[in-house]
Amino acid sequence: MSRLFALVSLVLFITNCAALAVLPDSTQPREATPVARAIEPSASAGGLQVKFRAKGKIYFGTCADPNTLNIASNTNVLKKDFGQLTPENSMKWDATEPSRGNFNFGNADTLVNWATSNGKLIRGHTLVWHSQLPGWVNNINDRNTLVCVNLRQNPLEMKVLISSKLQTTVIQNHAQSVAGREIFNEDGSLRSSVFSRVLGESFVTIAFQAARKADPAAVLYINDYNLDSANAKVRGLVNLVNRVNQANPGTIDGAGTQMHLQANGAGGAQAALNALAAADVKEVAITELDIVNASANDYTAVVRACLNTPKCVGITVWGVSDANSWRSGSNPLLFDRSYNPKAAYTAIINML
Ligand code: XIL
Repeated sequence: MSRLFALVSLVLFITNCAALAVLPDSTQPREATPVARAIEPSASAGGLQVKFRAKGKIYFGTCADPNTLNIASNTNVLKKDFGQLTPENSMKWDATEPSRGNFNFGNADTLVNWATSNGKLIRGHTLVWHSQLPGWVNNINDRNTLVCVNLRQNPLEMKVLISSKLQTTVIQNHAQSVAGREIFNEDGSLRSSVFSRVLGESFVTIAFQAARKADPAAVLYINDYNLDSANAKVRGLVNLVNRVNQANPGTIDGAGTQMHLQANGAGGAQAALNALAAADVKEVAITELDIVNASANDYTAVVRACLNTPKCVGITVWGVSDANSWRSGSNPLLFDRSYNPKAAYTAIINML
């Protein structure tokens, strides 16, 4: 009887895995053993996505939102070169619930629909963050309200719980979601925010468990900035991930480093990725890359670091063209203001 049960379970397991897995392509070396994504990203031959994928990585992505999806020269580049999109602002809490109970998913819907109809993976961004947080959340002082009410109404869960349209598209697309981010000070201690003030460190586990329940298919990441070398902040994050996953195995799937770098700032990228990959996570990623002046050397150093890290599954650059970058003044991206590829783009393509 128990053998029969075991067999049935195994069959169910295999059936589920088969339904979810990215189909193996024997011509492609698979370096990492990441969580399976349901879609194979679509892009053009010769572009960043296809070449990076051929090296065994899953995606080369960027951020977008309706303001950049309205620009034809931008979407031409997205279609050709990128396999993954992160909403730049539209899923942040101040965008989705500016006042309590008042939801606005219009821009997030536009992003998800565009990504889905163009075959791009999505990274949700972001669930728990001290910034771009509406005042009404900042003013919450009691544990029960913050946990029981607000964690059910946040940007990540809204994708899966509140809008049924989004629920369908996001689950089919196997969204890769960023659950917790920017929660550390530079010395590796926990940053002060409404979440840490009211809930202490437990907010991390609470947020990840809520996200897991809302979308069991999502790949859940912890993500932060200034994780650009093997520094104290990296050690703080690694220790926290290990504590959380030891107490509740499988809570956090991945660790992300944003990498908003200065010129000549790529020297520590490999050490940072090595340290993050040594944590108790299935995979790591570079989630918001941009580099002041965008030198070819800096960009290729970061891309090489991901290539050399078996657990590194993908790179997301924080925008396409310098014209639309949040650091526009420092020209940190791979395409110039006319959407033409810059030297760093060509250097990456040649390297791949
Ligand atoms: C930035 C956006 O690019 C800007 O448009 C917005 O005004 C501020 O936020 N780390 C993050 C991103 O996780 O969400 C931030 O994006 C850049 C820093």
